[in-house]
Amino acid sequence: IPVEPFDLIIFGGTGDLAKRKILPGLYRRLAAGQMPDGARVIGAARGEMDASGYRDMVREALETFVPEEDRDADSIDTFLALLDYVPIDAKGEAGWPELAALVRKDVVQAYYFSVGPSLFGDLAARLHKHEIAGPQARIVVEKPFGHDLESAKALNASLAEHFNEDQIYRIDHYLGKETVQNLMAVRFGNMLFEPLWNAQYIDHIQITVAETVGVGGRGAYYDKSGAMRDMVQNHLMQLLCLIAMEPPSRFDPDAVRDEKLKVIRALDPVLPHHIVRGQYDALGEEPSYREDAGDPKSRTESYVAMKVHISNWRWANTPFYLRTGKRLKARASEIAVVFKETPHSIFDNEAGSNRNVLSIRLQPNEGMNLDVTIKEPGPGGMRLVTVPLDMTFADALGPDVEEVPDAYERLIMDVIRGNQTLFMRGDEVEAAWAWTDPLIEGWQQRGEVPKTYDAGSAGPEDAMMLMHRDHRRWREIKP
Ligand code: BG6
Repeated sequence: IPVEPFDLIIFGGTGDLAKRKILPGLYRRLAAGQMPDGARVIGAARGEMDASGYRDMVREALETFVPEEDRDADSIDTFLALLDYVPIDAKGEAGWPELAALVRKDVVQAYYFSVGPSLFGDLAARLHKHEIAGPQARIVVEKPFGHDLESAKALNASLAEHFNEDQIYRIDHYLGKETVQNLMAVRFGNMLFEPLWNAQYIDHIQITVAETVGVGGRGAYYDKSGAMRDMVQNHLMQLLCLIAMEPPSRFDPDAVRDEKLKVIRALDPVLPHHIVRGQYDALGEEPSYREDAGDPKSRTESYVAMKVHISNWRWANTPFYLRTGKRLKARASEIAVVFKETPHSIFDNEAGSNRNVLSIRLQPNEGMNLDVTIKEPGPGGMRLVTVPLDMTFADALGPDVEEVPDAYERLIMDVIRGNQTLFMRGDEVEAAWAWTDPLIEGWQQRGEVPKTYDAGSAGPEDAMMLMHRDHRRWREIKP
């Protein structure tokens, strides 16, 4: 889809996210020939510098964060020529008239608030006061979108004072991941799965987002947040919605988001003994969570596992097991749909369970795998084995497939195109906090201390027990 000319204004244009993700993403789109004529990127931040100083800074950022094989001297020069810079004070008046003079009113304007949420309201108000925002203005905000329901409501209200919901793009970068979008393609583009996609045929679903990194470097932020706020309220919740939602009538932003919202609203409160929280221990030279957090008594969780129920006809009594954690044995995100066993076995010597499992790997090695039961070849009678029907997308689609854009590249281009399907709506974010808040309050009131787990392991022992009690087991976390 062609992209219109645009002005992209990055507040926080000298910050970490801009340097690591936003600017490299834009550069990649340009290098892929997808930047329209008339595109401009304007950095805005507190630091005093001119456009040429900004270009130098961005050149360095590209050299640091874009791998060498993806860098091309001509494309970099063309990209830098699109850049401009305005020093600005988010809480004062300095810089706003200059920004007003620079921004074009008759093109798409995307204002990326790559700053802390405490500035969202100030920025929105000044864009309004200085009459900068034109009819095609959009604002883009990042997580954390609040730290509880009340703060999320306040943020929504401060943005809503000056912008309509259809101008607000709340990023959850998991929605920009190729395979996350594939969840919808697989479910609603095939006849095969949807008839079986319910409590009658599915035993349970597992959602795993395992990371090997710790929180070193961002311990101060993370310690106030924890895995529940940092990962479950947003990323895992989005995955749960896409896996569990009813088929939307159209692939359009509100049809999709209406269905996701219904899932969140149908979530049962989670019982305290259905949640396990963990903290990683030190390993050799590598510090423990508490050392990374700089608080020897921290009770923040770097791991959480839980059993979740969705109270509706489709999912009654089908548990969803969610888990995510830092410093685990491998970086692996997957959703596994575990089907029930056949109702009656006609074979005498069935080896083990013959469950079908559809696993969808989000990262790395994106792909799908379906475990099916077949006869073991050979003369030994009707012996059954379970074998994987493996579909690694990179193998299946071959080498000529267009390079998959990074989540940020895709989402930024969706902002320019005006497509909100992959962005969270305000009511969705609030509903997710409304479900999360009582869980966090509960363990705070009970003064719960997270269980320690070995760095490089699959998580705390209690998380294994959570499954074993139900006569189920987690899938192995493997790269
Ligand atoms: C971020 C979290 O939103 O997502 C981080 O704040 C986490 O703690 C990251 O590491 C994971 O993203 P990805 O794309 O590496 O899976």
